[in-house]
Amino acid sequence: MATTLTIVKPDAVKAGNAGNVLAFLEAKGFQIRGLKMIRLTEDQAGAFYEVHKERPFYGDLVRFMTSGPAVAAALEHDNAVPYLREVMGATNSAEAAEGTVRALYGTDIECNAIHGSDSEENAALELSFFFSRSDLIAAR
Ligand code: RTP
Ligand code: MG
Repeated sequence: MATTLTIVKPDAVKAGNAGNVLAFLEAKGFQIRGLKMIRLTEDQAGAFYEVHKERPFYGDLVRFMTSGPAVAAALEHDNAVPYLREVMGATNSAEAAEGTVRALYGTDIECNAIHGSDSEENAALELSFFFSRSDLIAAR
C-alpha cells in the first residue's frame, strides 16, 4: 500500500463539493488516513507549487489556492500516486475524461477541483506539508 496527498481545492469546497469529492475517492477504493481543513497562506501556496514558480500561471495559481478553504487528505491505495492521477483526470477539467473528479467537479484548467501528488517522492514531501507521522491513522 502507498499513500498520496490530495487537496480538494477552493473551487470545489466553495461549491459545496468537499464531501462529494471525498466520497467519490472512497468509492474508488481510497482509504482516508488523514484529513484536514486548510486555508493556505500565500507563502504556503507558493512553496507548495514552487516547481511552477517560473510558469506564467504561477501568480494566478497562488491566488486561486489562497482564495478560500481547502481540504487536505492522505489517501492510501495500491499504487496510490498513479491511481489518484488517473481518477483525477486531466489538468484541464474541460478535457478530463468522463467519470473523473475533474470532469465531475472541475470547471477549467485552473479551477480543477483537486490536487494529486505526481510522484512517490513528491507525495512524501507534500504529505509532510500538512501531516505529521502521528496524524496518519492506520486504515485497519
Ligand atoms: P495539481 O498539481 O494541482 O495536481 O495539477 P496538475 O499536476 O494536473 O497540473 P500542474 O501542471 O501541476 O499545474 C498545477 C495547477 O496549476 C493550475 N494551472 N493553471 N492557467 C493555466 O494554464 C494553468 N495550468 C495549470 C491548475 O490549478 C493546476 O492543477
Ligand atoms: Mg501538479
